[in-house]
Amino acid sequence: MLQRLRGFRDIYPEYMRARRIVFSKITQVARSFGFHEIDAPSVELLDLFRIKSGEEIVKQTFSFVDKGGREITLIPELTPTVSRMIAARKDLTKPVKWFSFPKMWRYEEPQSGRLREFYQFNADIFGISNIYADAEVIALAMEILDTLGLKGRYIMRVSDRILMEDLLKSMNVKDMEGAFRIIDKRDKIPLQIFREEMLKYISPEKVEILEETLQYKGDVDVVLNKFPESERTEVLRELKDLLREYGKSVVFDLSIVRGLAYYTGIVFEAHDAKEEFRAILGGGRYDKVVELFGAQPTPAVGFGMGDVVLELMMRREGVWPEEKIEVDYFVAIIPGFRKEAIRVANMLRRKGYIVDIELQDRSLSKQMKYANKLNAKYVIIVGEEIKRNSAVVRNMETGEQKELKIEEIH
Ligand code: HAM
Repeated sequence: MLQRLRGFRDIYPEYMRARRIVFSKITQVARSFGFHEIDAPSVELLDLFRIKSGEEIVKQTFSFVDKGGREITLIPELTPTVSRMIAARKDLTKPVKWFSFPKMWRYEEPQSGRLREFYQFNADIFGISNIYADAEVIALAMEILDTLGLKGRYIMRVSDRILMEDLLKSMNVKDMEGAFRIIDKRDKIPLQIFREEMLKYISPEKVEILEETLQYKGDVDVVLNKFPESERTEVLRELKDLLREYGKSVVFDLSIVRGLAYYTGIVFEAHDAKEEFRAILGGGRYDKVVELFGAQPTPAVGFGMGDVVLELMMRREGVWPEEKIEVDYFVAIIPGFRKEAIRVANMLRRKGYIVDIELQDRSLSKQMKYANKLNAKYVIIVGEEIKRNSAVVRNMETGEQKELKIEEIH
């Protein structure tokens, strides 16, 4: 037997229906925040990610040489593509608020919350450098999770790369990207390895100070009190105040730096409050990416949320939609009345109902059993009564059955 590849999913109708409900709730919230939907290619030149995302993600690409000899890859993320799309359109009125829900691919070790093919919801705002845009995207991310029934079951952790960068600069770190990469791994690797890795960048005493700083977690004001007052601490306090107006509260956590190379300011991740799963979503500000495509400097902030951890969380919390198929009507047919039955199905389909119809010539009892499996709400039995322009309609929930005029059925 040819097996399905590891880290990929077959999605059957019952499961697909539940996913569709969740996906449409997510996009509805994004629309309510004034974001507009886009889509983009699933394949890009590998260089796009080499230049824009950093080496970590390039190691994880599903890449290959195509028939034209180009090094290309299935997209591992969308941010470079969306930035290119922004750069290509000089006519856009800023701010631009876009969302998308593409499939993407990463050649990672499949494990809980991580697959090789997943969907990732993306929402980004382009053209706004002030903290109002950061607040709007963080509020959107939280509103989505709240709407899906996860309120209080996740923690939104926010940090600031500028504050961390200032600290690392004061420690004479030159390779900021390298240092951030190790800090990002801090919770995933043993402390000893973290120390050894950090020693490549800073002295042992400084590693100690850094470790202590990474422990700072909690209320924004409490954490910021540990830093000298600066323009930056003011901005972060403002972010907290703005989010309060959105009805959202976040935790300030300096250990969040994010693995991707392009972030330049606020970074954030939503985590399972019970700490069972990996990050539900992650994002931040990336003010320097769009200009790499030859456009005017264009500030940007946004996030990506995969469908995998989200689903695990929703299942555990009992808020994942029921997995079943269903139809509004099943049209059952008495032998000799197929044409009339098709006409009845047509009429109901045009009214917007989901209607299935018998496609074999089974006995009525078999048709009823089948309708039951489909979770049909009603069965319409088309037979002799059609001569009086009527049919027998059975309510599958109550078992009640009555003859109705065709035009009365709705
Ligand atoms: P990221 O942290 O690499 O950021 O991914 C964001 C989210 O995508 C993760 O929190 C997780 O939900 C999901 N994800 C990532 N890898 C996998 C995987 N192998 N399997 C399942 N889910 C996964 C980015 O991709 C940024 N481009 C997000 C962004 C948009 N930043 C600004 N705008």
